[in-house]
Amino acid sequence: MTSLSICNVGKQYQKGATTLENINLEIRSGEFLILVGPSGCGKSTLMNMIAGLESVSSGQILLNQQDITHAAPSQRDIAMVFQSYALYPNMNVYDNIAFGLQIRKWPKDEIDAEVQRVAKLLQIDHLLKRKPAQLSGGQQQRVAMGRALARRPKVYLFDEPLSNLDAKLRVEMRTEVKKLHQRLGTTIVYVTHDQIEAMTLADRIAVMKDGVIQQLGTPQEIYQQPNNLFVASFIGSPAMNFIPVTVQHTAQGRFVELKDQSGTCLQLALPAGLAVKTDQQLVLGLRPEAFSEVQPHKLSQAQVQQGEFLVEMTEPTGPDTLTLLRINGAEVTARVAPQANPQAGAKLPLMLDASQALFFDPVSGERLRALAQPAAA
Ligand SMILES: Nc1ncnc2c1ncn2[C@@H]1O[C@H](COP(=O)(O)OP(=O)(O)OP(=O)(O)O)[C@@H](O)[C@H]1O
Ligand SMILES: [Mg+2]
Repeated sequence: MTSLSICNVGKQYQKGATTLENINLEIRSGEFLILVGPSGCGKSTLMNMIAGLESVSSGQILLNQQDITHAAPSQRDIAMVFQSYALYPNMNVYDNIAFGLQIRKWPKDEIDAEVQRVAKLLQIDHLLKRKPAQLSGGQQQRVAMGRALARRPKVYLFDEPLSNLDAKLRVEMRTEVKKLHQRLGTTIVYVTHDQIEAMTLADRIAVMKDGVIQQLGTPQEIYQQPNNLFVASFIGSPAMNFIPVTVQHTAQGRFVELKDQSGTCLQLALPAGLAVKTDQQLVLGLRPEAFSEVQPHKLSQAQVQQGEFLVEMTEPTGPDTLTLLRINGAEVTARVAPQANPQAGAKLPLMLDASQALFFDPVSGERLRALAQPAAA
């Protein structure tokens, strides 16, 4: 069992300039935790502090309840794989993997067994005599991983390990990393820019911006219940649609209107318990899949309605055709089956499933949550 606790950790490279602010993360034993966020938000800084390569300005880092905040990297039992592999160019693959064990003065036969084990696991056992320059990017990446695995540390840190690979290899390695984690069950903290990598690999995702964690949750939580507009826009491809709406009120209740340029207008009832006033401006968040071709068997569902929308443009991706609409002046992407044959300039019957509709405060960016309703008397 290995637990890693980041408690109120802060980092200032220079006085007065805060790079990381009060980071709190409780990483569970065996967990695959992913850090995502835009360039410069502090992901590598946090990883380097966990590894001991960068000093901690405030707060504590605990490994199995032991304070390692100021421990030397070699005393931490944590292995890091860098974006740039950092292989020793003059050593062959075998020695690159063996190096960390030689430094730790492992007996020769044990080192040999360990290198063979790791090389087999990563399917690089036929490459052991080659130098890094004689390997493809994906193979170098495996060697870098092998070097970390051979140490059998308590925690692995991966800082964008796949970002140098081409798209196809990246997807393959993503699957490999996932299998590896399932097989070994070790604790992993993994940085990526790629939100698909984040969604597919993580047990939990921490979304960072400007040195602050915006949300920590399972991929589903982050995708379906983002805390704010930043998280909502960062995760999901194509991105969530944001539509400006105004709260209206009739005897039937509160609703917002969605109008396109052809005059189509749908009314969306607001969730009960949402603390908003009539005439208040909100941002409605709808994932592209909330709009789809009409599927008659779904039309009876409470939150589902249909309308004919004017198509501005289409972007076929293969399995779906992304169909651009304009609603309340905002560009909106719908995810439509290619068979529906959307055509730019023509109207297309579409179905809107508003069961996943989210509402945000346009000023603070925070998601508005429905307050619990008092139980019916
Ligand atoms: N050694 C340093 N001295 C001063 N500032 C630094 C240093 N290292 C990083 N920074 C700054 O700290 C901030 C966070 O950098 P960091 O490398 O952690 O970002 P990141 O989230 O890993 O970005 P990327 O996704 O581009 O790798 C940046 O503004 C960066 O310029
Ligand atoms: Mg970085």
